[in-house]
Amino acid sequence: MRSLSGITSSGECHLGNYFGAMAQHIELQDQGEGIYFIADFHSMTSVRDGALRRRLVDDVALDYLACGLDPERAILYRQSDVPEVCELSWILGSVTPMGLLERGHAYKDKVAQGLSADHGLFAYPVLMAADILMYNPDIVPVGSDQKQHIEMARDIAQRFNHVYGVEVFQLPEPRILESVAIVPGVDGRKMSKSYDNTIRMFWPEKKLKKAVMAVVTDSTPVEEPKDVKTPVFELWSLFASESEREELFQRAQAGGLGYGDVKKDLLARLLDYFGPMRERRAELEKRPDEVEAILSDGARRAKAASAPVLDACRAAAGLGASA
Ligand code: TRP
Repeated sequence: MRSLSGITSSGECHLGNYFGAMAQHIELQDQGEGIYFIADFHSMTSVRDGALRRRLVDDVALDYLACGLDPERAILYRQSDVPEVCELSWILGSVTPMGLLERGHAYKDKVAQGLSADHGLFAYPVLMAADILMYNPDIVPVGSDQKQHIEMARDIAQRFNHVYGVEVFQLPEPRILESVAIVPGVDGRKMSKSYDNTIRMFWPEKKLKKAVMAVVTDSTPVEEPKDVKTPVFELWSLFASESEREELFQRAQAGGLGYGDVKKDLLARLLDYFGPMRERRAELEKRPDEVEAILSDGARRAKAASAPVLDACRAAAGLGASA
């Protein structure tokens, strides 16, 4: 089984990224071939500073490796190291109806806000389709916010196959873990860098503590029953077993449990869970050459994995010299 996914390097990885996507990616490396890339081409629609882009890619690479991605098993690469994706993006774009892209959430939101969108944002789903289709993966593990993009990739694959009359591309299947897909941020909205409400597992302890203590709560007094469908409890649940959760929820509903105590325990659990990863990251950070070597080896393997599909695609479309 081949799984493929990308993570946009437009900011630091946080708990939302970890539980929504990264943890699944790392788990999947035990179940077959995992191909993961850092989407620096996609970051161009929002990050407009080259030095920052490089730094963000390095950060994401360190985060993934620290969290347990094993470069011996899975492939980890930087999207721009396999520029063939841009070629495929053009090929796919030429069979993609405007109407399909006009329905894209990111593009529509921008236009609805009265802002003018770049072509890059409009074509973002085509590049993403190219990312996926060039490996013919069996599954694409993503957060629920990416559902539409995967559906578009399926439509685009079908269009190409239909237009050229050859089954070059396999229709990708999304894998969405609904139970953990939405992690609340400190303000209670979905955790997202665009809301500036994130908690980053690799922050220094002091900053982490400050963020945890800042998670929104209501003003229910300690002795009264608490609503457990609230951000503090939802975040805490990420680090608890089923039975621990039941026990705490019962205590919360009985009254007498203060939010402060839950937050303290949340912080302790967070530090415990991410402790080994925090240590590994600090170690890896001292060896940037090693990280770079992992990424370039990943790109080499990614090129090899995508070559058969790209060759079939060029042949079907009549591009390049005939074989
Ligand atoms: N757009 C995805 C995100 O923001 C990242 C991404 C880019 C991706 N290309 C992809 C995810 C291909 C899965 C497959 O999270």
